[in-house]
Amino acid sequence: MLLTNLALAPMTGGPVIADGAVLIEGGRIAWAGQRADAPSGEAADCGGRLATPGLIDCHTHLVHAGNRAGEFEKRLTGVSYAEIAKAGGGIMSTVRATRAADEAKLLSQSRKRLEALLDSGVTTVEIKSGYGLDRETEKRMLRTARVLGREYPVDVVTSYLGAHALPPEFKDNRQGYVDLVCNDVMPAVHAEGLADAVDGFCEGIAFSIAEMEQVFTTARKLRLPVKLHAEQLSNLGGAAMAARFGALSVDHIEYLDETGIAAMAKAGTTAVLLPGAFYYLREKQAPPVAGLRAAGVPIAVATDLNPGSSPVHSMLTAMNMACVLFSLAPMEALMGATANAARALGFKDRGQIAPGMKADLVLWDVEHPAELAYPLGYNPLAAVIKSGKLVRGTLT
Ligand code: NIG
Ligand code: FE
Repeated sequence: MLLTNLALAPMTGGPVIADGAVLIEGGRIAWAGQRADAPSGEAADCGGRLATPGLIDCHTHLVHAGNRAGEFEKRLTGVSYAEIAKAGGGIMSTVRATRAADEAKLLSQSRKRLEALLDSGVTTVEIKSGYGLDRETEKRMLRTARVLGREYPVDVVTSYLGAHALPPEFKDNRQGYVDLVCNDVMPAVHAEGLADAVDGFCEGIAFSIAEMEQVFTTARKLRLPVKLHAEQLSNLGGAAMAARFGALSVDHIEYLDETGIAAMAKAGTTAVLLPGAFYYLREKQAPPVAGLRAAGVPIAVATDLNPGSSPVHSMLTAMNMACVLFSLAPMEALMGATANAARALGFKDRGQIAPGMKADLVLWDVEHPAELAYPLGYNPLAAVIKSGKLVRGTLT
């Protein structure tokens, strides 16, 4: 299939191609460039729309049960996220709801969230566990994520986030829980092929550096890549520790310092910005974007879709927030939602419009890519091509 008469934002480092064409063969991009240079053959006219790579949301907690709008009300009266967590709310409130939900309920609630996210042009999504904390519920969450990947035209990659919060049954036995994560649940989800990576939350209200090191050491033995929620509310040095384990990404990083930046640069770790959480928690300290740029650390942007700190269901919204709150350039935000998000997940086969890449493309009714990150609550999506197949909208 040859698509012509489209502008191309290839996200390869090259410029936007005003009058471009893309040849798709066998679910892959066979050729992309100026229309004048396109191989001959039957062509579909795309009406001058803009084509970008399919968007990649590299950090979500979209499989969960329940709702935390009540905490939103509390936070607006001045109670902090950390205070709510310490009082047994926050992540633990979603753990209670998720433990109580069977697979059918988890699936039906999660479908609606995924459908909203797909409306924003997402063709690859990462989904974490971490609201079960016991073996059976963690497995149920990851199984649900896999089912979603079969039901919808989207590639789902999963992360086992056992080290998200300390469950109440281990409140006086932190090491007992770390042992459960390392010796029981992680090997179990790995044996069933349910986890593509291992994640953790390194923070005063969650797990320490020493605890996360145990989790990552086990992941390394199982050859599972790692990533980390770090330096979100304080600077514990989680980013540098994760970089020592060759982490794919370190996420949030509002409090990241120069040492952490240097460690990430050296390890080739991607920085994942989650402006939705910053926005909802009304944080004051923005991540060190200038330092990341200067050190050449790739910057990705994700929704962090979750019921507490970031009920954001659109990659376009996350991109907008990364621009307005963190001063990313609109093209940097798009890079963060495509090529750099692919890196954050360890993919080399997507996130760019280039020969050999998966043919995951979105056509937008805009003239320039900067328009994608500009409006809020407006969706210029016109068509989605997933693995070479038109799965939404029309080409013209
Ligand atoms: O990425 N930071 C930790 N975990 C999630 C929030 C989860 C929740 O509040 O339910 C996050 O922001
Ligand atoms: Fe998160």
